[in-house]
Amino acid sequence: MTRRTFLFVLGSSRSDGNTEALAREAAAQLPSDVEQRWINLAEHPLPDFVDLRHDADRVRPEEGNTALLLDSTLAATDIVIASPLYWYSVSTPTKRYMDHWAGWLRTPGLDFKASMAGRTLWGVTVLAGDRLQVADPLVGMLRNSAAYLEMRFGGVLLGSGSKPGDVLSDTEALTHAKTFFAQEALPARFPHESD
Ligand SMILES: Cc1cc2nc3c(=O)[nH]c(=O)nc-3n(C[C@H](O)[C@H](O)[C@H](O)COP(=O)(O)O)c2cc1C
Repeated sequence: MTRRTFLFVLGSSRSDGNTEALAREAAAQLPSDVEQRWINLAEHPLPDFVDLRHDADRVRPEEGNTALLLDSTLAATDIVIASPLYWYSVSTPTKRYMDHWAGWLRTPGLDFKASMAGRTLWGVTVLAGDRLQVADPLVGMLRNSAAYLEMRFGGVLLGSGSKPGDVLSDTEALTHAKTFFAQEALPARFPHESD
């Protein structure tokens, strides 16, 4: 069996934020033989996505943060999008990372879609209020993206907190974090495919 490798993509616009804290609580429960790689998009910013999908001469990025993120994504069995809730969805750095997926999907020789099929997408997010349902657009965005790539979807670990550290008082989120990555990730389905 392939060794599991978790890539944590941190999308907060501040350091030591709640989302990373909650993601680290969940990651602490992963078995020691699971490799973890953490990439903070604020420290490794991606360039704005330029839509060259239909240009014939696109090439695989070979250096810089785009190559780092691409190679790390392809090397992971599990990708964890750890984004704060910004306007009910993912943060801009997170969205930019996902936009680059659209380019990678069409990069000749990469076969990004076939490579991603069967891997697992997870989400972790923290929002300021305690009505977690307001994160539904973020959850749907991740689930639909996983379905599009024929990935598995592990769901989204949700927490509440406004200022850094607040989420560590959210006992429900901390309890959920203990078992979050132990749950079975099912093949992702679009809403119209769900039974
Ligand atoms: C640009 C921006 C947009 C936000 N939008 C929402 C939102 O839509 N709903 C919400 O409950 N909190 C919202 N918040 C609050 C953050 O989700 C909250 O402070 C969270 O703890 C930030 O996570 P972090 O510490 O990991 O950065 C927003 C904060 C910012 C800076």
